[in-house]
Amino acid sequence: MKATDFGSDFLWGVAISAAQNEGGALLGGRGASIWDQFSKRIGKIKGNGQPTLCCDFYHRYKDDLMLVKGLGFQVFRFSISWSRILPDGTGRVNKEGIAFYNNVIDECLELGLTPMVTLYHWDLPYELEKQGGWASTVFQKWFHRFATVCATNFGDRVKHWIVLNEPMGFTSLGYLIGKHAPGKTSVTHFMSAVHNATLANAEGGRILRGLVRGAHIGTSFSCSEVMPFSQKQEDVQAAQRADVLLNKLFIEPALGRGYPELNNFPLLEKMHIHNKAWKYKERMHFNFDFIGIQNYFALTVKYNALIPYVHANEVKASSRKVPHTDLGWEINADSFYRMIKRFWLYGSVKNIMITESGACFRDKLVAGSINDELRINYFQQYLRAALKAKKEGVNISGFLAWTLTDNFEWNEGFQAPFGLVHVDFATQLRTIKASGYWFRNFLRY
Ligand code: NOJ
Repeated sequence: MKATDFGSDFLWGVAISAAQNEGGALLGGRGASIWDQFSKRIGKIKGNGQPTLCCDFYHRYKDDLMLVKGLGFQVFRFSISWSRILPDGTGRVNKEGIAFYNNVIDECLELGLTPMVTLYHWDLPYELEKQGGWASTVFQKWFHRFATVCATNFGDRVKHWIVLNEPMGFTSLGYLIGKHAPGKTSVTHFMSAVHNATLANAEGGRILRGLVRGAHIGTSFSCSEVMPFSQKQEDVQAAQRADVLLNKLFIEPALGRGYPELNNFPLLEKMHIHNKAWKYKERMHFNFDFIGIQNYFALTVKYNALIPYVHANEVKASSRKVPHTDLGWEINADSFYRMIKRFWLYGSVKNIMITESGACFRDKLVAGSINDELRINYFQQYLRAALKAKKEGVNISGFLAWTLTDNFEWNEGFQAPFGLVHVDFATQLRTIKASGYWFRNFLRY
């Protein structure tokens, strides 16, 4: 497999996000985000990690962009910290925040890198969370303002946009399971957040379309193939419930199909009221130029009456003795291939971009270098799977590795490295891993 097998117009890049990389939490007039607040709560983040400094992208963006360039990538995906540009979430614009992103964008262009901006990558302004956050009835007004400020300030130079990063991730982990900020555990909040995210996704697309000339507008969805542990009916049904939530809940309304259907699943039935209101079905739909796919693991589930709503429980990869990363996530490139094909089979997806792909391995720095063979192996397998789908006719336009540098992995803190570049968080020293060199070599041919 060679990089050129993917075609000469294929986009190769890396992705990062504001909350995970920037730091500078208290600098430049930035307001607090839900992660600043959440990470102060005892026991929420492993090792008590706080995203105040992270890998200091705020000060080191020039060096980091040089790394992106040096490794041979062409696209740099990053997100805008909402509370850096609108410290109160809405209202007053913080000029210093705008200037920071202008500098990052200009530096990309100077280096010949294509900037790709994610509007929302999980870091809601804390001020908005105090007023209900993603579950609020006035959420759309806030999001409209945020998207408009981004489009009008950056749209002259940024032509590649991703509206939301993994809406299933931040709505379920943040409002239902409570593992992520803001740490809520309420099904009502979850459902409201889901609907707000669905609407914001489409509305964000419309705002960008209206304000940014020549924009390529996408959004990104997480997905995970769900396998039943056995062929018993209760396991099969548990897998179907998990599947509809993980793989259909957000993409189907975005494609104009409304919320998905599944018999005997009361959680979902509550959403169907929105399908009936024509104006909502319309409002949830946007004709995206590309759909971003992010697939980190395949799941096997078993029926469990004690798990609320879904009644499905994960059977861990380690107990099934199948390959997995250091976060216990099943490595299964065939399943990644099948998910790509499945999204493509909707027929109305014009283009697919792999907007994130990567793996956590707890690397060892030995005599100044990191030989992360497992990560290289992971990328080789996942790239082969993407290439197979592409050769079979799926219109895949790019692959973005997650991620450039080790960073703040949400509730896992600083103990779950995904980077192609190692970061010593005490000194901020960067060391390119073998996987980074592997990409550099791969992208040459
Ligand atoms: C997807 C998320 O978008 C990203 O923020 C996260 O770090 C990776 N998954 C790995 O968990």
